[in-house]
Amino acid sequence: MKKFDQSLNLSDKSDASILKSLKNLGFLAKDFKDVETLKELSIHTNKEIRYYSINNLGKLSNQNLLETFINLLKSEKTSKNRREITSSIGRLRSRKAITTLVKLLQDSDPNVILQAIRGLLVFKDDKDIKEKLLKLKDHENELVKTIIEVEFNNKKIYSKDHHKSPDDLKNKIINGDTLKVLKKIQNESIHLTFTSPPYYNARDYSIYNSYKSYIKFLVKIFKEVHRVTKEGRFFILNTSPIIIPRIGRKYSSKRYPIPYDLHYEITKMGWEFIDDIVWVKPEPSAKNRIAGFDSHRKPLAYKPNCITECVMVYRKKSNKLIDWIYDQYPKSIVDESKINEKYETSNTWYIDPSHSKVHSAVFPLELCDRVIKFYSFKGDLIFDPFAGSGSVGISAKRNNRYYLLSELNKAYYEEIKKKLETDTQLSFYK
Ligand SMILES: C[S@@+](CC[C@H](N)C(=O)[O-])C[C@H]1O[C@@H](n2cnc3c(N)ncnc32)[C@H](O)[C@@H]1O
Repeated sequence: MKKFDQSLNLSDKSDASILKSLKNLGFLAKDFKDVETLKELSIHTNKEIRYYSINNLGKLSNQNLLETFINLLKSEKTSKNRREITSSIGRLRSRKAITTLVKLLQDSDPNVILQAIRGLLVFKDDKDIKEKLLKLKDHENELVKTIIEVEFNNKKIYSKDHHKSPDDLKNKIINGDTLKVLKKIQNESIHLTFTSPPYYNARDYSIYNSYKSYIKFLVKIFKEVHRVTKEGRFFILNTSPIIIPRIGRKYSSKRYPIPYDLHYEITKMGWEFIDDIVWVKPEPSAKNRIAGFDSHRKPLAYKPNCITECVMVYRKKSNKLIDWIYDQYPKSIVDESKINEKYETSNTWYIDPSHSKVHSAVFPLELCDRVIKFYSFKGDLIFDPFAGSGSVGISAKRNNRYYLLSELNKAYYEEIKKKLETDTQLSFYK
């Protein structure tokens, strides 16, 4: 274990040596001797030295230092150090610090405001302070808003049946328009949605009047997916930019950045962005776009072969941490759902594509297995609103989860049914 010092060693006055000594101070006892030296160093010309001096002064939680911190705030210009000073004032847990912390709620730097809020939360039962903090509920900074919501908003009633799902949705495949299907599903029924929507005008089953109407169609569906998803659970969306080939030599082809256009809409409707996983396929499996450039090598016409797809990870916005979700399950389920085998540690997933005689764009089961294991528990209900060949259902089943699939195309639907050997229509869906 690292051994920390209890006093400063400043025999060598170089910045590097001062910093080393400052970083090497651990827990500081109340009778720490070098307080005055720390005060001097807290106005040093080197901002890192200032930072670690303030940090160490903060550890002392000494109310006599309030004046020092207030003065430091007047001269300090860097965001990181002003945040540290504010945090140190909060750590004093002193009523004498309240006026300063309240003033800092008006600061222009959200990092400072967040620390001031933390300091004031110690007194949140005080009516006057509660009122002042609540005024920040409409603050323009999203983190400020979130912290106030988490601390004061008890309106939401959390489902006590988080780990359960409606029996009539379990292991069902529905042949129909997913929007109609979704309308019949009650709020907060689904644990995880993993899907790849029809690609804009790229296949027979996905022809839309315009790109705008395509995005609008998906927005409607993803809003419904949001409604039926349980508190704090995940929505994983696989898309990639597509290309509509040129209609003649006079025209150019058109690329549509589907994941990027959808991302903005998805986060607006209450999904929180969590991760962007890149699915990489072997280059020979991609359409060859580079041939023209390869022969003439002239700039501006470089068109790389596209071997990646986006697997975007979103979570239904919630004040609850992931730990809250673990607490909603029996411990045995959490333990049994652990990923004990070797797994991918980066956000780049190399997975070969899959092919099917019946469907032209199927998920490799390997991809579904990873998503389902990483983002759900055994016994959860997994939804794919655009089921295609039913890979999500197959993977859910083999990973001991329930599935709910909807697919518009009758032939695809029949194929899924065959594969999953199950009875089909939901009682509510005619
Ligand atoms: C990209 S494919 C999904 C492929 C699937 N991930 C798989 O592994 O096979 C999209 C599917 O959405 C279906 N689809 C298109 N519009 C739909 C709608 N309104 N409701 C339900 N399914 C729809 C298409 O028939 C197509 O099979």
